[in-house]
Parts: sequence; structure tokens; C-alpha cells
Amino acid sequence: MHPMLNVAVKAARRAGSVIQRASLNLDTIRVENKKHNDFVTDVDRAAEEAIIATVLEAYPKHAILAEESGAKGVGHSEYEWIIDPIDGTTNFLHGHTQYAVSIALAHKGLVQQAVVYDPSRNDLFTASRGVGAFLNDRRIRVSKRIQLNQCLIATGFPVTDQSYIDQYLGMLKDILAKTAGVRREGAASLDLCNVACGRVEGYWEKNLQPWDIAAGSLIVQEAGGMVTDLSGEQNWMESGDIVAASPKVLAQLLQMLAPHLS
Ligand code: IPD
Ligand code: CA
Ligand code: CA
Repeated sequence: MHPMLNVAVKAARRAGSVIQRASLNLDTIRVENKKHNDFVTDVDRAAEEAIIATVLEAYPKHAILAEESGAKGVGHSEYEWIIDPIDGTTNFLHGHTQYAVSIALAHKGLVQQAVVYDPSRNDLFTASRGVGAFLNDRRIRVSKRIQLNQCLIATGFPVTDQSYIDQYLGMLKDILAKTAGVRREGAASLDLCNVACGRVEGYWEKNLQPWDIAAGSLIVQEAGGMVTDLSGEQNWMESGDIVAASPKVLAQLLQMLAPHLS
């Protein structure tokens, strides 16, 4: 395993222990509302601290972009760690076990190492650019299904910003009509990993942040999938609008989304 991926795994597992310990006493967790439907807890902060401490212990000069504490040293290092300590905080708060730790390492702006750790299932998804994607050390590949009516598609609803809800519902209506079903599980990083290991055939969502998608996207690409924005272009990391699937399913998803883009 690449030494930087090894550090990412160590950090993710430490954060996972913080999170799972806290999950035993959900009633005592302090919650704040960052904005409408966007929550942060003392557990998000403690998990993030554990990740950053582990990374900086190994690489003190690397830059950090973390959801809860923001950017440190960005622009001063070629290496940037992109961290979501709990992706799926709303699920975590409800004891709904669909949440994960997401850690990506970018070099000169390109993600090279990725970890998504689901502590409830002890599922560790990893990828290194050019080396492949793994779930608990076993190689994973995207699904081989290509007939849309056999495809299960994941998505995320507009929760914080509802200004594009009508546009989104139009997309959902068309995709529901033509596929085997749509799933909304509430953790973007795991939605991407589910594409990577073939539990769903595709995924789309709008308005995400870099820490939601940086790690999961490399895991999809290294599992033989493709990632684009909703128009099939490559600026999904900047826009936060994302589609991920095997190449053949992605082309069909883009075709269904196109009439809804304005
Ligand atoms: C959220 C999850 C969710 C997505 C939201 C994200 P958070 O991340 O990834 O699936 O729909 O847009 O904000 O806030 O739980 O880290
Ligand atoms: Ca997130
Ligand atoms: Ca989060």
C-alpha cells in the first residue's frame, strides 16, 4: 500500500473509533445547525481533529481542507488532504447507520489516494490512482448491468439549498420511470463507493462540496467507472454537481438529465 494511503487509512480508522464510541450515546451529543438542514456535532469535530493530527504527524507540511475547520496551508504545499470527518451527519444523529469518514489526498490538484471508511459495517474502501479500487483489500469493479430498466440508481435530494427543487424533481421523475429504482441513502461518499462496487449502477447529485466527493470519485474511477458533471464535463469538483457510473450507464444518465439542464 502507498505510504500516504496507509496514513489515510490509519486516520480514517481513528476517526471511526471516535464516531462508533459516540454512537453508543447518541442522546448526549451536542448538535448545532450550520444552516438549514446542515448539522455539525462535537463528534464531527473530534473525528476531524483525530484525522488532522494523524495526517500532520506524518506530513507536517501538507495542506488541509477539512469540512469543519476549513483550509490550512492551502497554496503552500503541493499536497492537500480533503477531509469529511462524518459524511452523513444527519443519518449518524438518528442512529441510521449510513455514514462514513472520507479522506482524499490531492497532489497538484489531482486526487491520488482515497479512503472511505464505513465504521458501522467496518467497510474500508480505498484507491490509489493507477492501482485500482478495493473494498477490505479485495479488488472492486463497477456493475456490468447496462440495460437501464435493470439499473438501480442512487441520488441525493436537495436539502440545504432548495432553489433547484423543481429541476431536481423533473430529473427524478424521468430516472424513476426508466430504471429499476432510485435510492437516497444520505451519504455521498458511500453512494460513490456503492457505484464502485456494483451495489448500484449509477449516481447523480447536485450542489455537493469537495470533501463529499473527492475520495469516492477516485474510488469509482479506479473501479472502472466514470465521473462527470451533469453535462458530461469534468468540472464536477468545482461545481459539486456529479454523475458517476460505468461508461455505458453514464451516457444514458446524461441523456436523461440533459433536458433538465438550463
Ligand atoms: C451530506 C451527505 C448527503 C448529501 C449532502 C451532504 P454531510 O454530507 O453527503 O448525502 O446529500 O448534500 O452535505 O453534511 O453529512 O457531511
Ligand atoms: Ca459530507
Ligand atoms: Ca460532514
